[in-house]
Amino acid sequence: MDDSLDLEFAVTYRHRIFFTEGAFASGNRVLADLFAGAKVIPIVDAGLANSRPGFAAEVAAYGKAMGVHFTRQPLVLTGGEAAKKDSAVVKAALAAIEADKICRHSYVLAIGGGAFLDAVGFAAATAHRGVRLVRMPTTTLGQGDAGVGVKNGINTFGKKNFTGAFAVPAAVVNDLALLASLDARGLRDGLVEAVKVSLLKDPVFFANLEKESALLAAGNIPAIGRAVRRSAELHAKHIAGNGDPFELGSARPLDLGHWAAHKLESMTNHRLTHGEAVAVGLALDLICARELGLFGKAETERSLNLLVALGFRIYAPEMHLDGGAPMLAGLEEFREHLGGQLTLVLPTAIGKSTQVHEMASAVVRKAADELRARDQQPCVARS
Ligand SMILES: NC(=O)c1ccc[n+]([C@@H]2O[C@H](COP(=O)([O-])OP(=O)(O)OC[C@H]3O[C@@H](n4cnc5c(N)ncnc54)[C@H](O)[C@@H]3O)[C@@H](O)[C@H]2O)c1
Ligand SMILES: [Zn+2]
Repeated sequence: MDDSLDLEFAVTYRHRIFFTEGAFASGNRVLADLFAGAKVIPIVDAGLANSRPGFAAEVAAYGKAMGVHFTRQPLVLTGGEAAKKDSAVVKAALAAIEADKICRHSYVLAIGGGAFLDAVGFAAATAHRGVRLVRMPTTTLGQGDAGVGVKNGINTFGKKNFTGAFAVPAAVVNDLALLASLDARGLRDGLVEAVKVSLLKDPVFFANLEKESALLAAGNIPAIGRAVRRSAELHAKHIAGNGDPFELGSARPLDLGHWAAHKLESMTNHRLTHGEAVAVGLALDLICARELGLFGKAETERSLNLLVALGFRIYAPEMHLDGGAPMLAGLEEFREHLGGQLTLVLPTAIGKSTQVHEMASAVVRKAADELRARDQQPCVARS
């Protein structure tokens, strides 16, 4: 006789994000309270360690002063996209987790950019089937988006994030002081995710970004801190409140502009950062939305002008490579990554969006042509 058991159970998650300035200053209790006597292995992005001399000593001194049980001096590993290109960083992190006897009641403290957190987070998610992870994003993109999420992963078989895991971190700690060592490009990158999420969810935030665009473009840290703070909140609230934190459906409601961005990142061999590629992908999707009659002409201009005012270039010559075919292949790759039906999010107003399930190549090509024309006459884009 056929037989079956069908059991249902629910697990509650807590997604905690702390905002502070100077997390490693003696007296700052955020990390000390989080770890509360447990063992912690600190793993740091080499890009951060190199541009902030003395950082390892700062971490060690904090541990001593605040009674945090760090198992070693911070382990410094490769950061940036190189951290995700193969399994070397994941393996090095796993080896250290094993050597330091980090158990499911101890912590991995990962400090670095979004790519670094993706890789070290994957190691933490798989060691002992998941040890506790505290993420400390150190880029604007990390603090406003990548670092406050629940996804980890590295690229395999030439595919972005092919090997990875969903895992809710024990906590995220956003330390504004850690952004100080970023260059102009690094400071700007995260702003595009702020524009994206404001377009999807919050017209007031969008207007604030417009108002502060000169300060933001000039790399003003307090203004960047405000933009990143609201971006983090909108991203995290979406994850916690939108019903699909682990992306079981076919939609990715926050990924406006990302199908083309992911493709352009790999087509440019990461000449474009994730943020720069999203700026181009966003511009492309906005024009497609306008062409489809979903998004107004004036709103499209406002949005493109904001991207340009923040210092983003909204065209990449690679869009026209081989008549646009390689970039268009990104649509199918985007569908494949999620499975199921192609689902793209497009804006219908500033702060509102809808989903579409097809995108004609002709519309994308037309939008790419328009971006090329605007790029050749920058005054048009700024008018
Ligand atoms: N997991 C997610 O949900 C998610 C979401 C969005 C993006 N991402 C991923 O995040 C990655 C992009 O992250 P990113 O924009 O943070 O860039 P990144 O991690 O590539 O870092 C950029 C560079 O800055 C260096 N760096 C980091 N912090 C620094 C600091 N404070 N001072 C000086 N240098 C510093 C890094 O070493 C690297 O060289 C992409 O791989 C993207 O796919 C992940
Ligand atoms: Zn992104």
